[in-house]
Amino acid sequence: MVPDFPYDRLRRRPDVEAPNLQAHDATDVLLVDRGLALAAEHGISGAEVAVIGDEYGAITLALTDAGLAGIRVHQDLATGRRALASNAAELGLAGFSAHELDRSLLEGARLVLMQLPKALAELEEIADAVARWAAPDAVLVAGGRVKHMTLAQNEVLGRSFGRVQAQRAERKSRLVIASEPLPVPAGPPFPVTAQHDGLTLVAHGGAFAGAKLDIGTRVLLDVLGLGGSQLLKNGSCAAVPGPDGAAGRSSCGVVNAAETVVDLGCGTGALAVSYALAHPEARVIATDRSAAAAASARATAAANGVADRVTVMHDDAASELAEGSADLVLLNPPFHLGSSVHTGAATRLFEASARLLRPGGELLTVYNSALGYRAELTRLIGPTEQLARTPKFTVMRSVRR
Ligand SMILES: C[S@@+](CC[C@H](N)C(=O)[O-])C[C@H]1O[C@@H](n2cnc3c(N)ncnc32)[C@H](O)[C@@H]1O
Repeated sequence: MVPDFPYDRLRRRPDVEAPNLQAHDATDVLLVDRGLALAAEHGISGAEVAVIGDEYGAITLALTDAGLAGIRVHQDLATGRRALASNAAELGLAGFSAHELDRSLLEGARLVLMQLPKALAELEEIADAVARWAAPDAVLVAGGRVKHMTLAQNEVLGRSFGRVQAQRAERKSRLVIASEPLPVPAGPPFPVTAQHDGLTLVAHGGAFAGAKLDIGTRVLLDVLGLGGSQLLKNGSCAAVPGPDGAAGRSSCGVVNAAETVVDLGCGTGALAVSYALAHPEARVIATDRSAAAAASARATAAANGVADRVTVMHDDAASELAEGSADLVLLNPPFHLGSSVHTGAATRLFEASARLLRPGGELLTVYNSALGYRAELTRLIGPTEQLARTPKFTVMRSVRR
């Protein structure tokens, strides 16, 4: 235990903050305690330690505070990277470096500490990376909340490590220690690729829906006239007049020409790339707070031959795009925040859409029909109408007032 580390001073900002959402958990503390014990026992220096999935920097900062200098850290989310930087500044801590999930993060690392990711595919990509690039005697200590852990995670770790040992649960968290990295295949297992009606999707392990096309995304593509999936044959489309009542728009067909289109929370880039393929004149920006998503969207744009027309950004809520710069925002918002159900994540993206859209610009949102976002969209963006509804999904169009 590092008795003096002020975990309670850590903040989640710019991620959503709320009384029931913390910037550290018991797993972080367990990982730090075990990490320090293993480093002391095996003479491992800070430069030989890598941290993966450090949500708001608790692990990196507590280890740095305990005297381990030169730690390398990978965080998937832009929000987590900014939170770590501001928490470090607040606590006056420095001497660690940020990396993507690549050789530079892991080369020579003898101890890797990780918060278990939610998706098995993400775990598989990380486990392979550790076995591929870390030192031959590397030990991976993975931790999670017991209620979210599964035996499948141990099986995934077992594909990259000769020994996988689950530890006794403590404070509702558990560590799994993987050691003896196994030989890796010539090429990494990710990204993976799949074909969907003329669209190639490329996905890293951490990207939403993998290389599959999400059902909600398909419904939105149908409304844009870009889907061809016929999902809406069991649903309904409203008649949508064009601007000033002109017949410029057909519902479940083509939307008005837009010069600048933002795919907000782009995942693998299905919406951005489909739009770019159908509208060669449009400037399309795909942006996501997940590095795995941004890398996937970049690869999807390249695989479909539109890399020169789709700009991909790794950013939180499109903060680097100018106010009023978009004619059209496409949004399939998240509705889970980490493991706690919290609509704050969707609200952040509605607020971001309001900032990005020029007056008269449009937001097309698809969401689970049970969620009922209409009042919020109307309040934050402007007049909102239902464009389509299937048994599961609703597509809304909001016009920026
Ligand atoms: C439901 S997925 C949709 C992905 C993709 N647009 C699609 O339709 O397949 C929501 C996406 O929003 C991203 N996201 C969540 N919060 C975000 C934020 N604050 N800024 C940017 N992206 C965010 C997630 O990383 C995720 O990729």
